[in-house]
Amino acid sequence: MTASVIDGKATAATIRQEVARAVERLKAEAGLTPGLAVVLVGEDPASSIYVRNKNKQTVEAGMASFEHKLDEGTSEADLLALIDRLNADPAVNGILVQLPLPKQIDSAKVLAAIDPAKDVDGFHVVNAGRLATGQDALVPCTPLGCVILAKQTLGDLSGLEAVVVGRSNIVGKPVAQLLLQENCTVTIAHSRTKDLAATCRRADILIAAVGRPEMIKGDWVKPGATVIDVGINRIEGEGGKGKIVGDVAYDEAAAVAGHITPVPGGVGPMTIACLLRNTVTAAARQNG
Ligand code: GUN
Repeated sequence: MTASVIDGKATAATIRQEVARAVERLKAEAGLTPGLAVVLVGEDPASSIYVRNKNKQTVEAGMASFEHKLDEGTSEADLLALIDRLNADPAVNGILVQLPLPKQIDSAKVLAAIDPAKDVDGFHVVNAGRLATGQDALVPCTPLGCVILAKQTLGDLSGLEAVVVGRSNIVGKPVAQLLLQENCTVTIAHSRTKDLAATCRRADILIAAVGRPEMIKGDWVKPGATVIDVGINRIEGEGGKGKIVGDVAYDEAAAVAGHITPVPGGVGPMTIACLLRNTVTAAARQNG
C-alpha cells in the first residue's frame, strides 16, 4: 500500500479563510477587531520564525497583532507585569507566550498568570481541566489541528484505536483528551512504554509527538493506519544542508499506512490556523 498524503497546508488555508470571514462578521456586527498578543522572550531562531509567522497570519486574517519581544535576560517579574497589562487591555483578546522560556523564568507561573479567557494556547490549568472534564475550553492548537485532520480523513472516529506517542502538556496529553472526546480507545505511549513498536502497531490512528527524528519505523505502523506526525526536527541533510524531518520515518511508514501527514506541510500549518480560530472564539466569548 502507498499512503495518501494528508494535505495540512490546504486544510489550514481553508480554516484561515473561515477565520477571516468570522472576523469580518465581528467587525460588521459588533464593531470588534479581535486582537492577539504574542510574547517572545529571547532570540531562539525557531521561536522567532514561529512568532513572525503568527503575526503575519494574524494580520492577514484581518485581526490586530501585538508583538512583544523581550530580552533573553528579562526577569520573571517583568514578564508577569506585561501579562497583567495584556490581561487588562480590552484590545487584546488572546495572549500567547512563546515557549520555551529562558531558565530564570518559571513557565508554569507565567502560564497561570494568563487570563484563562484569553489563553488561546489552551495551556492554563483551567483550560486543561475544562478539556479533561468535557467543558467548553480553549483547546491547544497543535492537538486541535491533529484531530481536525484525523476527522477530515476518517470521518467518525468512534471506536477506533488511537495511540499517542508522547505525553507532553502541549501535545500528547491534550490530543489524547480530544481523541477520547471523539470516542476513540486511547493509549498514551512514551519512552518507558515496554514494547513501543507493538503498541504502535495496534493503532488505527497513530499520533507521533515525541520530538525524535524518524523514531517511528515503517514496521511499527498497522497496514492502512492513519499516521499523524507532529514532529519538526532539523537534521543534517545531504551536502551539510539542514533538513526538516518528522518523528516518523516517512518513506517506510508511507509504504504501509493508509493516510499520512508529510513534514513539512502536514500538522505544522494547522497550528497557526487553529491559533487564529481560538483567537476569534475568545474574542466572541469575551464580547458575547
Ligand atoms: N512552543 C512550541 N509549540 C508551542 C505552542 O504551541 N505554543 C507556544 N506558546 N509555544 C510553543
